Order: sequence, then structure tokens, then C-alpha cells
Amino acid sequence: MSDTKDEIITLTPEALEPGDFSQSHALQRKAHRLIPGGAHTYAKGDDQYPVSAPAFIARGKGCHVWDLDGNEFIEYGMGLRAVTLGHDSEPVVEAAYKQMQLGINFSRPAKVEVDLAEAMLEIIDGADMVKFAKNGSDVTTAAVKLARAYTGRDLIAICGDQPFFSTDDWFIGTTEMNAGIPQAIKEMTLKFRYNDIESLQELFDQYPIQIACVVLEAEAATSPTASYLNQVKELCEQRGAVLIFDEMITGFRWHLGGAQKFHGVVPHLSTFGKAMGNGFAISALMGKREIMRLGGLDHDRARVFLLSTTHGAETHALAASLETIRIYHEQNVVEFLWRQGERLRALVNQSIAENRLEGFFELIGRPCNLVYATRDQNRNPSQAFRTFFMQELIRRGVIAPSFVVSFSHSDADIDRTAEVVNDAHVGYRKALDEGVDKYLEGRTVKPVNRRFN
Ligand SMILES: Cc1ncc(COP(=O)(O)O)c(C=O)c1O
Repeated sequence: MSDTKDEIITLTPEALEPGDFSQSHALQRKAHRLIPGGAHTYAKGDDQYPVSAPAFIARGKGCHVWDLDGNEFIEYGMGLRAVTLGHDSEPVVEAAYKQMQLGINFSRPAKVEVDLAEAMLEIIDGADMVKFAKNGSDVTTAAVKLARAYTGRDLIAICGDQPFFSTDDWFIGTTEMNAGIPQAIKEMTLKFRYNDIESLQELFDQYPIQIACVVLEAEAATSPTASYLNQVKELCEQRGAVLIFDEMITGFRWHLGGAQKFHGVVPHLSTFGKAMGNGFAISALMGKREIMRLGGLDHDRARVFLLSTTHGAETHALAASLETIRIYHEQNVVEFLWRQGERLRALVNQSIAENRLEGFFELIGRPCNLVYATRDQNRNPSQAFRTFFMQELIRRGVIAPSFVVSFSHSDADIDRTAEVVNDAHVGYRKALDEGVDKYLEGRTVKPVNRRFN
């Protein structure tokens, strides 16, 4: 367990009935006046949560958070899956603070840049070189740029069944929310289907020498069939394209060596972020020397402007990441994530059976990264039922846009969550029988990637 675990305050019965959101809601109005969308990440936005959700979090410890009005919650998927050790992990904060006292950013590189490079290359054993940045979008975009420079090709093939790769135009251009992105950019990204090697083969047949790279998560909601990832790699190599694994979610979760280690398939380039720094802004582009070196000083080809940003190697985020990696090694964090996810899955599945919700409510994915699907009485995906389920959880002190666990989710947290889920499932059954609308406290949630509000 994390070093901070023992200090986590247990939920009191009063705290399990959050009710007063007055301070939160007052700030919400101001936030929307000052900030488009009222938040800096769409996934945290008001349209992603029921109206009764706490609008702002004031602080967190482990997997518990307190909102502005002092209501306490158990939280899942913390920091969009970035906080895997827990909020306010003391050793990580301490490492970052110590480094900050030495200076944050100099005119020349800091030693910690090399230290973290070594630590990351030790973990990701198929990679030879690494370059750091502040977020996942930048490194995934950098991987694409590097692949284009390396191959001299323009087109990008992405897995169309996976939800997100980057905030940049090459990816957002393929979504519903693509206002402001030129048609010419949109046309450069093609889509193939996961676990369907023919759909990728067709793209290569249609554009035999134009595809620079193939971008996918080795695994997301669906697991790969036995040979799929190897087939993708073989196809890339036959057709001269670069294989890029986006390990933003899978890294530090499926395995410390990422999904590439878990599945035994080494891509040419891969990108990491999120859990790398337990919430500190740090990400990494990793890969084969032959490709990565184009961003360096020792080749005769055209120079690639590869991830050169003012804050890219901010020293304290690198120190935080080094400490995070140390804790992962020392305490076998990944095994714990799988175990707690499995515990939660077993209990939630029991509740599904007890409440006759098979086909209506479902847990999806690996135990280390559980998400849930909500369906209506006709078994169609339902945002109304998602809203209702989240609303019922929040009333009882659980914020769960997913059931993605962290190293700070103790057995007691998991068991309490399962009790709350069971209560929400009792209501779900009723809402299926009687109609969900009468049980909703307000408008429904909506997917982020939609064309209009
Ligand atoms: C699979 C995947 N790739 C890339 C990104 C982008 O990362 P960031 O938000 O750090 O730019 C995300 C973010 O959610 C993601 O889930």
C-alpha cells in the first residue's frame, strides 16, 4: 500500500450523505463566466456529471476527496487516470519539492533529465531513446511527426474504435468536434478497426506508399485476439510504416513495462504520460534509436523539430516521476491495481446478478482499468441511465466516471463502493421498470465529442 494510506480518514456516516453544494455551485457560475466550459479539461466539465455532482474539489488524500462545501467522496479514475498512487502521495510530493528547491528550469539541461531517461529506458525495454514533454497529446503528435519525417509519407492510420490520441488537429479532425480544423488535415488521417487486420490491410492496399504510421492503444476496452498485435506489427514492417503504441492509459497500469510488455509486442515508437508522475505534468516519447535520432544532432538528414518546449523538462516533474517509478518497483503497484480492480469487479458483478441487471449494467475492461456501460430497457446505450447511476453514487459519497482504481483504494474503500453500487443498482432496476426520467434530478450527461452543445 502507499505510504500515505494509514493516514486516510475513514468516511463518517454524515459524510456519506453529501447534500450542501452551495459554495461549489456559486463558484460554478463564476467559472463559466471566466473559462469557456468552466474547466480546463472537457472530461471534468459540467456536462460530464449529473447536476447534483460537486462542482469543485478542494483537496484529496489517497482516493478520498473533499469538495468546496466539505463533502467527502471516494474517487475513481483520479486526475483522468494520472493519479495512480493516490492524492498527496507524500514521497512523490517530497521528491518534487526537494528538486524545486534546487531550481526548476535552467539555461542548460539538468542531471535529473538523464536520470529519468535511464529509469524509463530500464522499464520500457524495447526502446533505445526517450524524450520528455508535459502531456500525452504532445508526445503522441511528436511520434506522428517523427514517423512522417522518417518515412517521407504524409498519411496517418489510427484505430477508429479507440476514443482518444491527442488534442492536436490530426486526431481531433477525425472527431465530431472538429470545428476549426481544415479539410486538408482531416483527410490525412484514416481509420481502421481494432482486431480486424483486414481493415488495416485495406488501407495499405488503397494507399500503398503513403501511410507513415499506424497509431493505436495495444489494448483499450477490448482485448486483442491472440495474433492481432503481431499481425499489425508485421504489416507495418512489410509496408514500411512506423508502429506507434499510445500507452497513456496502459503504461504503468497493464504492466510497469506497458501493454507492449504485457502482450510481448514491441512497437517502433510508444508514448507515455498520465501515471508517469502520479499527477505531475510529465510525458515521454520512446522508441528505436534509428527513428528517434532524427530529433538529435548526430545525423545528416533533415532536422526534425522534436519536442522542444520551455517547460518540457521542468525538474520537479521529472523528480516526481523518478520517485513514482521507485515506488512502483518497490511496492509492486501494478499487481495491487489488478487485485483491487478484481475485488471490485467481483462485488459489482454480484450486485448486477442480485438486481437482475445483466445486459443493462456491465463492467468492461481489465481489472486495472475498469469502465462501465449503462443501457436502457431496450438494452441500448443510455446517457440517462449513466446520469442516474452517477447521481445515485454521488448521493452516497462516490464519484465514479469509471471504476479505475489506484494504489490508495483500500479493501475498505472497495467494499464501501460495492455497497453504494448495490444501492444504486436497486434504484437502477426500479428506473428500468418505471422509467428513468422520474428519477433524474436534472439534465443528462453527454459525450465530450459531439458537434453541438
Ligand atoms: C489514450 C490517450 N492518449 C492520449 C491522451 C492525451 O493525453 P493528454 O491529455 O495528457 O494530452 C489521452 C488523454 O486522455 C489518452 O487517454
